[in-house]
Amino acid sequence: MPELIPVLTKNDIDNLVARVARRISSDYQNHDLILIGVLKGAFVFLSDLVRHLDIPVKIDFIRVFSYGSDVCSSGDIQLTKDVEVDIKNKDVLIVEDIVDTGLTLKYLIDYLRSYRPKTIKVCAFIDKQERREADIKIDYSCHGVAEGFLVGYGLDYDEDYRYLSGIYHLKP
Ligand code: IMP
Ligand code: MG
Repeated sequence: MPELIPVLTKNDIDNLVARVARRISSDYQNHDLILIGVLKGAFVFLSDLVRHLDIPVKIDFIRVFSYGSDVCSSGDIQLTKDVEVDIKNKDVLIVEDIVDTGLTLKYLIDYLRSYRPKTIKVCAFIDKQERREADIKIDYSCHGVAEGFLVGYGLDYDEDYRYLSGIYHLKP
């Protein structure tokens, strides 16, 4: 059986989300902000984030499929669900569960730029630094980790563990 080692409790997560939401609320006062969640992993974080913000936002989702193993994206990325709201001339914030190599995010930023939004920034719950390959800026990150494969709070391993309310390090 794989071992689950606790990394963040539900309470830790609540505090981290509240803190990042305060920054975003203050930075985007009087803006037309559209949050774009990256399916599937970001659905839990996005739903917590919007309930901590005290500014009005619109919400949409995008989905990508990344070829490769269950634990590492290959950088060979395909869009499987596009955005549906009009983001032209709007302020866009991409909401991700975790950034690892950064290749997914790089692809998404380049893709969404083609719709000519006014600004595009990135909010990621976890910034995992060890395997970063793409040169990308994470404007809002909640928690940094050096390495390891994490599950829970939307993060999966082969579709398991997304439902856990804490974040765990999965040890094979
Ligand atoms: P990247 O393109 O390597 O940055 O990978 C991004 C995607 O890979 C994330 O959105 C996750 O879906 C998945 N991923 C990367 N690291 C982990 C992890 O530790 N646990 C679960 N999913 C991960
Ligand atoms: Mg993801």
